[in-house]
Amino acid sequence: MAALKDRRFLIVTGKGGVGKTTVAAAHAVALAQSGKRVLVAMCNAKERLSAMLGCDLIGADVMRAAPGIWAVNMAPEQALEEYGALALNSKMLYSVLFDNKYVRTFFRAVPGLQEWALLGKAWWHTTETLADGSRKYDVVILDAPATGHGLDMLRVPKVIVDIVPPGLLRRDAERAWNMFRDPDATGVVLVTLPEEMPTTETLELARALTGELDLPIAQVVVNCVLPPLFSIQERATLEAAALQPVVTRGDAALVAAAMRSVRERVQAESLSRLATELPIAPAFLPLLLEDAATPSAIRELAKRI
Ligand SMILES: Nc1ncnc2c1ncn2[C@@H]1O[C@H](COP(=O)(O)OP(=O)(O)OP(=O)(O)O)[C@@H](O)[C@H]1O
Ligand SMILES: [Mg+2]
Repeated sequence: MAALKDRRFLIVTGKGGVGKTTVAAAHAVALAQSGKRVLVAMCNAKERLSAMLGCDLIGADVMRAAPGIWAVNMAPEQALEEYGALALNSKMLYSVLFDNKYVRTFFRAVPGLQEWALLGKAWWHTTETLADGSRKYDVVILDAPATGHGLDMLRVPKVIVDIVPPGLLRRDAERAWNMFRDPDATGVVLVTLPEEMPTTETLELARALTGELDLPIAQVVVNCVLPPLFSIQERATLEAAALQPVVTRGDAALVAAAMRSVRERVQAESLSRLATELPIAPAFLPLLLEDAATPSAIRELAKRI
């Protein structure tokens, strides 16, 4: 199994709002600093990566976002069009066929095709080469949709491989699927928070990825980890004290300490579940007290990831 930094396709997924884009940005910065050419591909996202990288808004065309980093916010319709044009080897033929509202409606209704348009496009970027034959990007980071949709997206190539008759679509899906399951080439990066629900969801997602889909998990990032202030004994004392009626008389410091103590307890429980139930040891990113969606915060997280 290759080290994460040597893989060519990273799929970042996890529950909504846990820090997937932040982690994708931190990996992009860390990899670019080590001299790699990195493409970050987002899935039709409400675009926040540009604030993290300090560049112009990122649209549906690939753009250079920072030194060594390119980015694209893939849109299903445009991705499908590019793919169709590639597949038919002619943009004109594609327009004749597809600039027809019945054909378009039909394609929009094919289950999984929108997902494949995005996932397939991200994969296709891993195959792009420069004029001298070298790789255009050393690594493509897919900022994938949140848990349920992310899984649905990752299931699509397998379904195509299993049921679509031989042809171009299946050939590409097969190539992509082989790459996705190769732990030397691809790695799924699961992002989670040290809280109960995200932990449960992450463990389920990890089981689905490794069991049902046989995809390699390269890293589990527990994001927004608090530095523990209290020992187990102190936590018990604080939580008990906070339950006493005196608190209702307004001991704000005690209430704050007790709330912090509860968060630390839940965090400790989550970290211990993740450590025992995951196939690999998780990595941690600290909770930043400043706005994390800035280039300097992302550089700080990049050092730690
Ligand atoms: N380690 C951190 N410390 C402080 N704030 C953080 C940290 N990581 C992420 N955030 C903040 O949390 C918010 C959500 O992060 P982000 O956009 O990366 O999540 P996401 O999983 O990509 O969300 P979505 O599912 O909506 O795409 C952002 O405002 C981000 O700046
Ligand atoms: Mg995001």
